[in-house]
Amino acid sequence: MQRESMKRNGARLAFLAALWPLLPAPPASSQPALSETQLLGMRLFNQSCRVCHTKPQLTSPQYGPVLSKDSLGGQDGVMREVISNGTPRMPGFKYHFEPAQTDAIVAYIKTVPAPAPAPATTR
Ligand code: HEC
Repeated sequence: MQRESMKRNGARLAFLAALWPLLPAPPASSQPALSETQLLGMRLFNQSCRVCHTKPQLTSPQYGPVLSKDSLGGQDGVMREVISNGTPRMPGFKYHFEPAQTDAIVAYIKTVPAPAPAPATTR
């Protein structure tokens, strides 16, 4: 009796396993695919901005603020201006990037969802 039901379960598993690739795959992420421009922006961002704007390791501090589509009120013009001219603590990139490259970086930043607010800390 026991063996019979184990065999049946095994068959059911094999059937599910065979079916698995046919099931519709869930989307890899909720983010839509990036356009060419946004991908270019992501590459440039990874080359020139990551060092300061993302956390290199869990334990190390991050120098610049986290960037997202909500940075600087989500205003493209202000973002371009900060990227071009820099701030007292950030270098300007106007001699580094063509305007189209700066635009691409802004287009990429606009795809980054705003971070969840930090959990309230009780001291
Ligand atoms: C040397 C470190 C450094 C690099 C490299 C750097 N940033 Fe920054 N960035 C900063 C700091 C620090 C600030 C915060 C402004 C301040 O304190 O002056 C900032 C601010 C910003 C802001 C405004 C964010 C806000 O919420 O106020 C934007 C947008 C920005 N950076 C984009 C970029 C982009 C795009 C690049 C790459 C092309 C880049 N940064 C490279 C350090 C850096």
